[in-house]
Amino acid sequence: MKIIIINGPNLNLLGKREPDVYGDTSFENYFDTLQSKFPNLELTYYQSNIEGELIGKLQNVGFTYDGIILNAAAYTHTSVGIGDAVKAITTPVVEVHISNTFKREDFRHHSYISSGAKGVVLGFGLQSYDLAIQSFL
Ligand code: DQA
Repeated sequence: MKIIIINGPNLNLLGKREPDVYGDTSFENYFDTLQSKFPNLELTYYQSNIEGELIGKLQNVGFTYDGIILNAAAYTHTSVGIGDAVKAITTPVVEVHISNTFKREDFRHHSYISSGAKGVVLGFGLQSYDLAIQSFL
């Protein structure tokens, strides 16, 4: 089973960025943990800070992969284009957030991704990604 994790802007700084909100582990380290936990999956990871690159990646993988786990980060709350891309592809997308966005500022309460997603996992820290993977099994 081919699953890709796609992370949006500033998630390359996990471990350094607002550790009280996002924890002190880098995504690269956490990704190693996920690969060891799910050795039978073909798991890949992509991160970009650029909206068009995220849309391009969704289009590239979105007709052949078995699952996409998408944390569009700040673009979640702003990007009609990423929301449209999620609806345009056939691979199911699970939306993920590390923090509980509903406990935070009002502008984080709306997502352009959720209406096209298979489901949403949020608020469990990095474990949200693990739970999203399990939803595909
Ligand atoms: C986030 C929540 C977003 O509101 C924020 O802009 C992020 C990360 C999360 O994983 O909790 O960058 O998607």
